[in-house]
Amino acid sequence: MVQIIFLGPPGAGKGTQAIRLAEHYQIPHISTGDILRSQVAQKTDLGQQAQTYMDKGDLVPDQLILDMVKERLSQADAQTGWILDGFPRNVAQAAFVEQMLIQHFSSLAESSGAPKEDIEQVIVISLDVPDETLIQRLVERGLERGRQDDNETTIRHRLQVYREQTAPLIEFYQARQQLNKVNGNLSVDEVTVELLSAVDKARNS
Ligand code: AP5
Repeated sequence: MVQIIFLGPPGAGKGTQAIRLAEHYQIPHISTGDILRSQVAQKTDLGQQAQTYMDKGDLVPDQLILDMVKERLSQADAQTGWILDGFPRNVAQAAFVEQMLIQHFSSLAESSGAPKEDIEQVIVISLDVPDETLIQRLVERGLERGRQDDNETTIRHRLQVYREQTAPLIEFYQARQQLNKVNGNLSVDEVTVELLSAVDKARNS
């Protein structure tokens, strides 16, 4: 079972690399940003509530996100592993996922008879990239693909939200000895090589 949590600022390459890792390990890529954008496009209640926050570059309130993630993780394809991209995004979300996994692992261990420590490993990866490179990547994507939140003012706000609310998770996972830092400031292929090596090392440790 491979379970990966991907941390990193906007534009670090989480989405790009998560697709590759999902393919390599044959696990679903679960991106809260993609799920939210699809809800916005379908004009669902959730999408309409989320859109104002997303357009400004603020986090969507936890009460909208947590049920959405719980529902996605309960689906059949997520029972043997996953890669979470863009979640958790603050300490409350990390505490929620930790509690949910403790319950999940306990019932899995009971039903399979496997030792809990064999199945409960969650690998956390943090992708590091300097701010100026992030801004350049996202401005370019904004010009190419027209994503609403990829304009310089909103990008800078997203980076500030990342520093204030998401970066504390680095310490949260470091304290739990789950954190693996990977240099995201290389070519896409080079980052993939680094990531596969970090994940395999963590799985074998
Ligand atoms: P989300 O969709 O998660 O956006 P993000 O975190 O801002 O991440 P990005 O998609 O911008 O960057 P990425 O790291 O995935 O990089 P990518 O691979 O795309 O969230 C959007 C919004 O939804 C949030 O602001 C919030 O409102 C809401 N939201 C989502 N999750 C939430 C949650 N859990 N709680 C509350 N709110 C939530 O790459 C970026 C660009 O760089 C691409 O063009 C790519 O081609 C290029 N690139 C990638 N790697 C490289 C490389 N190595 N070299 C050169 N270019 C590269």
